[in-house]
Amino acid sequence: MERDVHQRRISLAIDNYHSHFSFPMTDPRLAWLLCSQDLPFFVRNFVFIYDATTQDWVRFELWPAQERTLQTMAHSRKLVVLKARQLGISWLSLAYALWLMLFRSPATVLLFSLREAEAKELLWRLHGMYDRLPPWMQAERVMLANETRWVLSNGSRALAFSTKSGRSYTGTLALVDEADFVPEMNQFLNAVKPTIDGGGQLFLVSTSDKSRPVSVFKNLFRPRWRG
Ligand SMILES: Nc1ncnc2c1ncn2[C@@H]1O[C@H](COP(=O)(O)OP(=O)(O)OP(=O)(O)O)[C@@H](O)[C@H]1O
Ligand SMILES: [Mg+2]
Repeated sequence: MERDVHQRRISLAIDNYHSHFSFPMTDPRLAWLLCSQDLPFFVRNFVFIYDATTQDWVRFELWPAQERTLQTMAHSRKLVVLKARQLGISWLSLAYALWLMLFRSPATVLLFSLREAEAKELLWRLHGMYDRLPPWMQAERVMLANETRWVLSNGSRALAFSTKSGRSYTGTLALVDEADFVPEMNQFLNAVKPTIDGGGQLFLVSTSDKSRPVSVFKNLFRPRWRG
């Protein structure tokens, strides 16, 4: 059985290579199994991102560095990414969050940004990716969907917050976008500590706040902190 699956997987990979991502939809159960075991496979074949230039949703054809980053995300408890602009890191983190919500359910994804509006935008992106998945890959029902909360019938949920909200959080994954711009970073790290203590993952992603050459976020950007 395992060998059979393996062989079909190889032939699907070859098909994909030749047909440029037109994944044969004949066997959803096999596709489900492959996606659940192979995160880049899921992203390459099923995830769409919104391209601001063409103003359309396009396939997420992973750049090689993105594929490596995705693997790092899957294996890191704590991850700090100090980055240049426009590398696709927000989309990449969200694609990973979506994968957790579907293939490692029930998962609680916490989306943080300094301002709530930006956290809501992350949730909008996540929702947009989900809407473009084939129906058989989606949860049976969406139980709740508003600007800050999105709950699926498989028990997974995604919640959007400002880093200023001040409460404490436990989740499967806490994703903090533009983390270097969070003024009270130590306080915020305390607030998300229950996520780490409970075995969840914490990703801090940011471009550099050039007005602050020294910051908590920049201090965290050291090999010893990468989990
Ligand atoms: N693999 C890809 N193929 C095509 N376009 C991509 C790819 N990855 C990212 N992009 C495009 O790059 C742009 C930036 O993506 P994203 O917002 O995820 O990047 P970012 O690194 O978080 O940027 P920012 O510095 O603005 O926060 C988007 O318009 C997205 O469509
Ligand atoms: Mg971003």
